[in-house]
Amino acid sequence: MTLPALLQKMLRLPVVAAPMFLVSNPALVIACCRAGIVGSFPSLNQRTAEGFEGWLDEIEAALDGKAAPFAVNLIVHHTNDRLEADLDICVRRKVPIVITSFGTRLDVVRRIRDHGGLVFHDVISRRHAEKAIEAGVDGLILVSAGAGGHAGNLNPIAFCREIRSFFDGCILLSGSISDGAGIAAARAMGADLAYLGTRFIATTESAAVSGYKEMIERGRMADIVYTPNVTGVNANFLAASLIDAGMDPKAPPRPFRPDMSDELDHEHKAWKDIWSAGHGIGMIGDCPPVNELVERLENEYHETIRQFYS
Ligand SMILES: Cc1cc2nc3c(=O)[nH]c(=O)nc-3n(C[C@H](O)[C@H](O)[C@H](O)COP(=O)(O)O)c2cc1C
Repeated sequence: MTLPALLQKMLRLPVVAAPMFLVSNPALVIACCRAGIVGSFPSLNQRTAEGFEGWLDEIEAALDGKAAPFAVNLIVHHTNDRLEADLDICVRRKVPIVITSFGTRLDVVRRIRDHGGLVFHDVISRRHAEKAIEAGVDGLILVSAGAGGHAGNLNPIAFCREIRSFFDGCILLSGSISDGAGIAAARAMGADLAYLGTRFIATTESAAVSGYKEMIERGRMADIVYTPNVTGVNANFLAASLIDAGMDPKAPPRPFRPDMSDELDHEHKAWKDIWSAGHGIGMIGDCPPVNELVERLENEYHETIRQFYS
């Protein structure tokens, strides 16, 4: 077990509820942390840095230091002009875990680690993993094929085993894990934590609209399309939501030209109307409150482990 000290004995289940653009809100984060798993959200889910800090106030007041730690996701990309302001807030407020995506920067990692925070970084290849290790991250999030959002295209078994062969830090496995058997499988493959996104969209607390939650409850793996045509970067989307937005899910990849000058604004509009989910939707058939879901995941997880020994 290579779980950082901050997380040892703090979690009921080795699970992080992953940050999701326009879906993760304080209610979801608070419910996850109270249920004993890590809750997280992208800072950009609030339109301003002040709004982001307001969410931190709300989450910290509700958790009052008595729950699992929470995480904030920062997009480390040159198009994110909020990065410096949001990073300053994370450092000043001593956010316990920062999840970085779309780029590793030594100075960003250093500033978070200097205040005692953990840095987990999203990667989709061995090369990305090596760069993140060089930058000194505490954990690698292996975003495998079939994940919701900007998924990679590597098989999770091969990806996890290859990275584990040379990295003894914390590994979080991401992609299509939606039940307790999947969490146990991630642990069996050498991951410390399972990283679940899509499963938490269909919960009472998530900010997703009801049509989105229903599409996930009804959906199957075959309803997911991997395409760069929405944002310019390959991501998994629900085919029916592409059709509703007037797009052809079978259209070949085309050169990407956002029709707005503000890239973040374009991103917001794209993800609001076209809904992302991973291949793990076939295991989702309801929309429970988070505490019920975590209890179920815990039972399934322990039942799976029991079966190994029976
Ligand atoms: C609707 C949606 C939005 C997402 N937004 C982000 C994001 O803003 N930042 C990020 O690092 N990952 C984002 N992700 C990826 C998740 O954090 C996570 O890696 C992924 O959902 C895990 O795969 P799963 O959905 O199959 O469980 C998003 C995923 C979804 C489904």
